[in-house]
Amino acid sequence: MAKDGNGQVSGKLGINTRLAHSGNNPHDYFGFVNPPVVHASTVLFRDAASMAARSQKYTYGTRGTPTTDALAQAIDTLEGSAGTIVVPSGLAAVTVPLLAFVSAGDHLLIVDSVYHPTRNFADTMLKRLGVEVEYYAPDAGAVIAALIRPNTKVVFTESPASNTFEVQDIPAIAKAAHAAGAIVMMDNTWATPLYFRPLDHGVDISIHAATKYPAGHSDVLLGTVSANESHWKQLYESFCTLGCCAGPDDVYQVLRGLRTMGVRLEHHQRSALTIASWLEGQNGVARVLHPALPSHPDHGLWKRDFSGSSGIFSIVLAGGGQKQQHAFLDALRIFGLGYSWGGYESLAVPVWLGDRVVAKGPYDGPLIRLQIGLEDVEDLKTDILRGLTAAAAA
Ligand SMILES: Cc1ncc(COP(=O)(O)O)c(C=O)c1O
Repeated sequence: MAKDGNGQVSGKLGINTRLAHSGNNPHDYFGFVNPPVVHASTVLFRDAASMAARSQKYTYGTRGTPTTDALAQAIDTLEGSAGTIVVPSGLAAVTVPLLAFVSAGDHLLIVDSVYHPTRNFADTMLKRLGVEVEYYAPDAGAVIAALIRPNTKVVFTESPASNTFEVQDIPAIAKAAHAAGAIVMMDNTWATPLYFRPLDHGVDISIHAATKYPAGHSDVLLGTVSANESHWKQLYESFCTLGCCAGPDDVYQVLRGLRTMGVRLEHHQRSALTIASWLEGQNGVARVLHPALPSHPDHGLWKRDFSGSSGIFSIVLAGGGQKQQHAFLDALRIFGLGYSWGGYESLAVPVWLGDRVVAKGPYDGPLIRLQIGLEDVEDLKTDILRGLTAAAAA
């Protein structure tokens, strides 16, 4: 295994090797395996000249520390990016790059199946700042060219879709956007860079709620935003302008989580697929929305572009409404009812599609999103059967 001048692993290495060895260089800190957790606002300069020239690596806590650099460099290795900023939440990882690149009078295209708080930010703050916001169907692919206007600045994608898991044709979208001079951003939280590398498929800015799989334990909020060479400078400068830096303990926890993310994801993937295929044969389930299942309408696209699947998908109950949906959720004993995902524990949430403009379904019944944790599959199946029995009786 070779390390470059920055202590980063290089060469053709497996993903778990890269997860174990990317980021900090232990020999920068007396050989300690993990980087220090640097709590910093002030950084001292040796003299007035170096202060005036800002000619040292670190100048102030908001602009980066050895701890944030360790995580950012590890993410760069995984993403193939020129630079990564680390921000205090996954939502900040959405809002900071949008603020960095859109201006009053710009047109912003967002996939209609986007994470709801992304839509809320666009519909409230960005509209107030004079940005025109439009939503496109997740199956748009190359047809998105018809929606691109001379003032389209950014196409914001998220694939698979939040809650309904449609897969987008990212290379086709990127080609159309770039032909018109627009930037492509992608929320890649579901796949992580282990199963999809957005920049390899034409995306300019890759976004992660590191709160999910990188952190992995439902106890940290963090986001990362990675840019290709041509967009890195503007992203980093905007990040410094906004002062949107993350706390060192949270950054450290995510770097710690990253080391085991490959192993955890394999388990999430296997369990989720086992449960998803089993659910396809269960009474009371109309459809399972998981792109790695051959029955999923976008399975071909997923297979073409992704190298794996994670632990979250949705089911459509066979008929009924909110009463049946709530009966299912209330019968669960192992699955917790709570937002977020990517942690070790299983979670279930009711899916609400009331914000959608084009990607509304129709679906045969109410939707429930399941995050499959690291528990034993047989126990999770038993719990889901409790939910299905309760929904049928409601
Ligand atoms: C796809 C997606 N992006 C971003 C976020 C925001 O992450 P955070 O909870 O860290 O703000 C979430 C959270 O659920 C999400 O599901």
